[in-house]
Formats: sequence, C-alpha cells, structure tokens
Amino acid sequence: MDARSDDRHEIDALRREIARHDVRYYVLNRPTVSDGEYDALFTRLLELERLHPEWVTADSPTQRVGTSPAKEFAPVRHRHPMLSLANAYSEDELRDFDRRMRDLLDQDPIVYVAEPKLDGLSVELVYERGALARASTRGDGATGEDVTANLRTLRTVPLRLDPAGGTPPLLEVRGEVFIETAAFLAVNERRADDGLPPFANPRNLAAGSLRQLDPRVTAERPLRLACYDVGATDGILFESQQELLTTLPRFGLPVNPLYAVCSGAEDAVHFYRRMQSERSSLPYETDGVVVKIDRFELRRSAGTVSRSPRWAIAAKFPAERAVARLLDIRVSVGRTGVLTPVATLEPVRVRGVEISSATLHNEDEIVSKDLRIGDCVIVQRAGDVIPQITAPLPEMRDGTERSFSMPRECPACGSPVVRLEGEAATRCLNTTCPARIKQSLLHFASKGALDIEGIGGKLVDQLVDRRLVVRLGDVFRLDVDTVAQLDRMGPKSAASLVRAIDGARSIPLARFLYALGIPEVGASTALLLAQHAGTLERLVDVGRQELETIPTIGPRTAEAVTDYFANEENRKTLADLRAAGLRIVAEGVPTATGPLAGKRFVFTGTLLGMTRDDATRRATSLGASVSASVSRKTDYVVAGADPGSKVDHARQLGVPVLSEAEFVDLVERGS
Ligand code: IVH
Repeated sequence: MDARSDDRHEIDALRREIARHDVRYYVLNRPTVSDGEYDALFTRLLELERLHPEWVTADSPTQRVGTSPAKEFAPVRHRHPMLSLANAYSEDELRDFDRRMRDLLDQDPIVYVAEPKLDGLSVELVYERGALARASTRGDGATGEDVTANLRTLRTVPLRLDPAGGTPPLLEVRGEVFIETAAFLAVNERRADDGLPPFANPRNLAAGSLRQLDPRVTAERPLRLACYDVGATDGILFESQQELLTTLPRFGLPVNPLYAVCSGAEDAVHFYRRMQSERSSLPYETDGVVVKIDRFELRRSAGTVSRSPRWAIAAKFPAERAVARLLDIRVSVGRTGVLTPVATLEPVRVRGVEISSATLHNEDEIVSKDLRIGDCVIVQRAGDVIPQITAPLPEMRDGTERSFSMPRECPACGSPVVRLEGEAATRCLNTTCPARIKQSLLHFASKGALDIEGIGGKLVDQLVDRRLVVRLGDVFRLDVDTVAQLDRMGPKSAASLVRAIDGARSIPLARFLYALGIPEVGASTALLLAQHAGTLERLVDVGRQELETIPTIGPRTAEAVTDYFANEENRKTLADLRAAGLRIVAEGVPTATGPLAGKRFVFTGTLLGMTRDDATRRATSLGASVSASVSRKTDYVVAGADPGSKVDHARQLGVPVLSEAEFVDLVERGS
C-alpha cells in the first residue's frame, strides 16, 4: 500500500474511533479515554486532513462547530500546569477513591472539601501586586489562550484585589467561568428572536462568550466566576482548601459558598446525594461534585498521575442524555409568522422526564447538525427543562433516513413563505393566517395580557376555523348564542365566557401593549412604554430615537415598536379593537414614585403567601422590575423558604435580603 492509501485508512479509522468516543462521552456519560488521549486522536486527524483537504467531509468530527483551535488568542504558558480530574461514576467509586487515599497516606479519616462541579470553562487569573495582569483559559493544561480583555468585562472579576486581603506580589487563582441557567435561557430566547441558532448548553455559551474576539460581545453575556484553586503564589501561602475558600473572598475574589467539609467517605457521599437531589433547584448547571483533600500538605504527599491529581476526584451524576429515534419533523407557525420545525421523538426518559418532542428552531440548525428523519439522535435537557437534540449518531444510519426541507408554503394557510436574506427564520407573511391568529389570540387572552378566563387552545381552534374571529377585535363581538353552539360549550359556559370577555373591555395601557404581542415587547418593556408615552395615540407617534432614550430600551426594541405601529395591518387591528368596544384606561399604570419605583428585585425560594407570579406582578405594578439573577445592580433579593445560593450571592455583593414579610410590608407602604 502506498502512503496515500495508508493515510486514507488512518483517517477512516480515526473518524470511527472518535465517533465511538463521542457516544461514550456524550451519550453514556462514561468515557473510556482521558481528555488527553481523545485530544491526541483529534489532533492526528486534523493533521491528516490538513495534508489531504480533498478528503475532508462534512461528517468528519473535525467539522463540528466550535472545535477549531483559536489561533487568534495569544498563547499563555501556565506557571503550574492546570490539571484535569479523574472521574467516579457511582457512590462506590467515590468510596474506592477514599480507600485509595487512606491507604496511600496512612490516615483515617481523611478530611475532604466537596464542591459542586460547575459546568463552565476553567480559567487562570494572575494578579501581580494586586492588579489583574493576565487571564487565560486552561487550554491543554500547559498552555492556554490569553483572554484578559474578555475576562476584564466580567463584573465578578476584580481588576484590583481588595487590599483588605493584603497585597501579595503574586497570586494566581483558578476558577470556573459559568453562566446561570436563567441567563442561559434568556440569551437563547433572544437568539431565537433574532433567528440565530441557540447554544446547546450553558458551558458552550460560557466558552463561546469568553473566546470571543470582540470583548464587547463577552460584556453583554452575564458570565460569572467562582474560584476554587490557586496556582503560583508569592507572599501568601494557603494550607488548606477551607482556608482558600474563606480567604479569597477577602480579596474580592468570588467563590461558590456552597461546599461541605467532609470527614471521610460517607460525608462526601452524603454531599454527593444532596447535590444530586438539589441539582435542579440550583441556579447553575452542575454535572457532579468535586471531592478534594482539604490539607495541601497531604495533597503534596498524594501527588499527581499523568494529568490528574491523585488527591481529588469528580463524582459525576447519572446521565442527562439519552438516545431516541427522530420519527418526524413537523412545522408549527407562531404568532409572528415564524415557522418552527419541531422534532417528534420516540419517547425517552431523560432525568426522570419523558420527552417526545423538541424544537429544532430553524432550518439552519437542522442542516448544520445534519439531522435526518429516522436518525438516532442524542437528546438532552438543556437548562434543566427544555429538551434538545444535540447531534445525530451517523454511525447508526442504515440508509433509510430522509433529509428534511422547509416547506415552501405555510402549513396552516398555504401562502408562500419567505426567508429574508441574513435571517435564519422562515416566515409566513399572511397576517390573516389562521395559525398566526390562533397564537395571537391565545396570547391576547393570556394571564399577563387581557386575562380572559376560558379562552384555551381548543376554543381558539374553533373560533378561528369557523371564522368567528378573523381579527383580535372580533373576540368582543362574540355573543352567547354563537358561543353556545361551539363544541364542548353549553349555554352556561358560553354565558360565563362572554361575561369574562366583557370584563376585559377596559384595560390599562401596559397590559394592552403586552397583549398585542409586539415582537421584543414583554411585560416589563410594555410597562416602560406605557409609562413613557402615557397614551396609545402618543406611543404610535413616538419615533425610534425618542424610544431609545427610555432606560433599558435598546435600538432593536425601539425598531420593533415603531415597525409595529407603522404597519398598515396592525393599525387596522388597533382601529378594529376600538370599534369593537375596547377601551384603554389610565388606571393601573404605576406611578414612577414610591419606594419600589425603579428598584430591581430578585425572588428566590418558595413564597408562602403568594406565588412568584403574584409577587412579580405586585412589584412591577409599583414600578419595580424583576430579574432572574442577582447582580450588583440588584436592589433587593426576596428570600422565601429554602432559598438557593442567590441569597449567598446577594450577601457577597452586599445586596439587602428581605423576608417575605418585609417584602409585603414594602409593597404595602408603596401602594
Ligand atoms: S478543582 C486539579 N473544583 O472540572 C483540580 N474543578 O475535570 C483543579 N471544575 O478543569 C480543579 N468545578 O474546569 C475543581 N469546584 C471545582 C470545579 C472544577 C468545575 C472543572 C474545572 C476542571 C475540570 C476538571
């Protein structure tokens, strides 16, 4: 055989082997090779493909997005290597680890510190004489990438150490850059609105945000840092993990306050169980716990094997992914006319929840993942709730799989669909498309909008299919006799529905704006718009520039609002709503004064006297805003029963934490 065909064979063999490791890693959560061995295979494949570009095919593992090594960032050599961790996949494997340590160190019990394993990107920050001199990613452990400019944009990263901790000549700290689940979901929602493909998981988002050439992009992403280790130091010595976790905050360096000091294996197993059961209520993703020997002296005796320390282990939680058959891809039409492909899956359970469908967002996502109907696919629950298809398993194909293409006509109304240049979304432009009207109507009647009880999916289907509702205003023209003739309706339920509709005829401007379903305008933006303009007439005429002067309203929202009111069809809808008897009332538009006006709240834990939604509504009705995660801009955190780590985070940042009673007090004073 000549060298060329040797290479060809090696390429094929490498691809097959890498694909097998991918399945073990992503699907079974049980890799059989170390990261280093995997990287070596991957590097060899890249090398061969560079020699033979004509053999690079789309299904090569090198062609997945995000794997290209960034040449754009300058290399940074770590003074001390950044190690990785060996894994344990069960409680018994964790006990085995403890047994090895006891034997090796001849000590019993051994004291460990156990911490949640954060699912992000590890970084090293070098502080010289108290100033942040350099920040780098872990890279291959020996050399990482210089991400100083990007890391500097993170609010949780001090640019100078707090002198309260002292000013050592050198302090290298290591930690994880991660993103909270709520923020991850919010970023993906925005991307979906923009027709961009979502990030597969919080880790990808954190990594993608940090390895950005433009630090402004990093700055827009709510990344956080938690420190858990030190590298080289001068002028300061740490003797234990406990000391490290209590000392770093004095320098202003964030640590995860959630950790446990464990005496022996059973304590560590206990923490592992506790984290596994509390996992879904933590504000960030964690895929296991890291158990490390507390005393550094003992760590030195235990030493390091290959690229992992002997003295620590990552005890992983059971798989969050499963393999399912992709039975079909259907297309649904949303309120704004966007066509969304939705996967029908053979039902599988992932972390105790049965999954039988998953959104695929848009055409590009299906193409870039090369998903085919009939494929076996990897299913995971992203951010704990939303099911997602991460990748197909091409090695399982038998040739019967079919590729999918977006329909050329709207599946609901048959009118031709368009995909504008530069947009990922395919849209139905027919404003009278029944699917669009149904979704608009459901939103119009929903709780935060007109709050008309009794308008649900089945009823909306009938109203629109029978053309009883063609425009939103038609809802107000329904009478008891007509409604009573619909399926599953009697004279009584018809009467109560019509009464509910009547009750919704007078509505505050903010709620009305939200109900219209203007792109980019959620409940809190609607409130800002209402406060600013005062009346609908005025808002219709406000220009983009003026809208942009409203705090927190950006150019995109401003454009969406002006576009909405400039559109002829939308103007007709508004006129028709008026003609049908809808009245906008001033009452209920919150005053911009009072103790809650302009304040930012975060709720955590279970409230006893009200639901989270109620609390949010009460706060926002008094001019406050509510966000999901705590930052320096937060004014109050309201902690219910069993609060999460948001409370600790608030305390670290010096944000006041209120009890439910104190919150109620404040609301009552404000109203
Ligand atoms: S300790 C050598 N603690 O897990 C020990 N690592 O596979 C240094 N990680 O590269 C790591 N949370 O990115 C440690 N609480 C934690 C961690 C943690 C996440 C990551 C880190 C590391 C990887 C090891």
